[in-house]
Amino acid sequence: MKLAIIVGSTRQARQTLKQAKWVEKTAQETDGINPQIIDLADYPMPFFNEPISPRYNPKREIDPSVKKWLDAIQDFDAYIFVTPEYNHSITGVLKNAIDYLTTELNRKPSAIVSHGSVGGARASVQLKEILSESRSVVIPNAVAFLGLVDGVDDQGNISPELKANPYSPQAALNMLLTELKWYSDALAAARNE
Ligand SMILES: Cc1cc2nc3c(=O)[nH]c(=O)nc-3n(C[C@H](O)[C@H](O)[C@H](O)COP(=O)(O)O)c2cc1C
Repeated sequence: MKLAIIVGSTRQARQTLKQAKWVEKTAQETDGINPQIIDLADYPMPFFNEPISPRYNPKREIDPSVKKWLDAIQDFDAYIFVTPEYNHSITGVLKNAIDYLTTELNRKPSAIVSHGSVGGARASVQLKEILSESRSVVIPNAVAFLGLVDGVDDQGNISPELKANPYSPQAALNMLLTELKWYSDALAAARNE
């Protein structure tokens, strides 16, 4: 399974990058998963201003910076969106990036890993709706991480205490990856029929 891990915030000193690195490390240790981080900081784009929805625009003219983003996420089997909670929602930069999508996520599974004072739960619920409208199959499993600042270091290593705890975000992430692989295999087989 080729897995894209989307980093959903771009501000200086952000925490989301280390959460994404933790997801990447765990995915690397999971059989059959080939993960790659896609950092929105590497894909600066203008605020969406196309004349109509790109999904219904056969004459779409794509800004080169947007094409770079669309090309980058096209060829994956599955997606994990790593998001913080900003004002009870996702970041503007992540919503803007998703608004440019057309068929890139069609019939492919995605999952959400969030953080914030209540684990980013409100952002996660909103993102589930947004990804579903973007034609992705959002799986039921999600990870809502409380205490990310102290729980994971800058290289993406989770603390030994959290790693060993059967109710920690680590256990939830392990289960999420197993489920995501199942959905990815099932949907890839169905798409190939
Ligand atoms: C503009 C802004 C709004 C925020 N709003 C919320 C919020 O509504 N709920 C919450 O739990 N945390 C909120 N936070 C805290 C962030 O979730 C926390 O700072 C997190 O680390 C942000 O991710 P980042 O470091 O990758 O930017 C907010 C932070 C910022 C910068």
